[in-house]
Amino acid sequence: MGTDFIFTDRADYVGEDRVLYLSDNESLLRAQTLPDCREGRVLDVGTGSGVQTVAAFRRGATSVVSVDINPRATDMARFNLALNGLPTDGVVLTDFAELESDAPFDLMVSNPPFVPVPPDTQFMRSGASGQDGLDFIRLLLERRTALLAKGGTFCLVSISVGPFAFSELERLLVADYHQESVRIDVQTIFPAPAPIEDFIDVFGDLSTANDWRKSLRAAGFTHLHNLLVTVSKAPLSEFRRTALARTLPPVGENKGSVDWPDYLDEVRLARASAQQTCSLSPGLDRASNTGNCPQP
Ligand SMILES: C[S@@+](CC[C@H](N)C(=O)[O-])C[C@H]1O[C@@H](n2cnc3c(N)ncnc32)[C@H](O)[C@@H]1O
Repeated sequence: MGTDFIFTDRADYVGEDRVLYLSDNESLLRAQTLPDCREGRVLDVGTGSGVQTVAAFRRGATSVVSVDINPRATDMARFNLALNGLPTDGVVLTDFAELESDAPFDLMVSNPPFVPVPPDTQFMRSGASGQDGLDFIRLLLERRTALLAKGGTFCLVSISVGPFAFSELERLLVADYHQESVRIDVQTIFPAPAPIEDFIDVFGDLSTANDWRKSLRAAGFTHLHNLLVTVSKAPLSEFRRTALARTLPPVGENKGSVDWPDYLDEVRLARASAQQTCSLSPGLDRASNTGNCPQP
C-alpha cells in the first residue's frame, strides 16, 4: 500500500479466524481515503491486518489504539506496524464492547463486520454482524459518544441493507447525529444497490434462511448498499450522498470485490472457508498445524 507492506491472510484461508485480506473496496479504499489525522489520537476498531492503523500514522496521527477480538489479527497488526517502522504498543486484543479509554479519540475508523447472516450461521468472524448485518454498526454508534471527542471524525466503510433509495446505515447515522452540527458524507461505492435476494441465495440451503428472508422483507430491506462514510464537524448540519469517483487502481494480486457478483463470490468463499475446520492454536504459531491449515 503506497510504500508500506501489509502482510495478511489470503482470501481462501481455511478457518473462521481469517484476517481480512486487503479488499479493494473496503480495506484499501478506506485506508487510502482516510482524512488528515495530524496531531490526533486515532481509534481503529476491528484492526485486522492493521491497514487502517498504518494509514492513520501516515496521515500524521500522534497515536493509534487498534483493537481486534481475533488474536491472529492483533499479531498480524503488530507485525505489520513493526515491518513499516511504526509503534506497536497501541494494538490491543479485546472485544470492542469492553474497550475503555482514559481520553477521547479525535478520529475513529472502522471497516466493521457487516455481513447479514441467518441465525446460528458459521461465518468469518471478520464479517458476520447479525441478521441485518448492522449489529456492529449499532455498537459503534452506541459507544462513539463515550470514546470519540465531541466534534471528532467518524470514518466507516460498510455494506448495509435498506430499501432501494436509502440504506439503513444512513438512517441510523442521521438519527444518531441529529442534534450535532456535522457533515455526513456518504459515497456509494458500486454504481447501484444490489437486490437482496441474490445475497440471500448464498445462505438459501440453511433451515433458518426462510425466516431470515421474511424478517428482512418485513423490515423493508430489499437491497444492499455499499458505502464509504465520513462524519465530521461542520458549521451547519449537512448530509451529502454522492457516487464515488473511483480512481484507485487495484493493488497487486489482491482479491477484492470490484462489483456485486464479485462480492457475492467473496461471501460464498468466506462461508465455505469458515465451515472448514483448521486446528490451529490461537496466534500465529504454526507449530501445531495439523495439516489442513494453509501454510504462510
Ligand atoms: C471487516 S474486518 C476489517 C479489518 C481491517 N480493519 C481492514 O480494514 O482490512 C473486521 C474486523 O473486526 C474484528 N472484530 C469483529 N468483532 C469484533 C469485536 N467485538 N471487537 C473487536 N474487533 C472485532 C474482526 O476480527 C475483523 O478483524
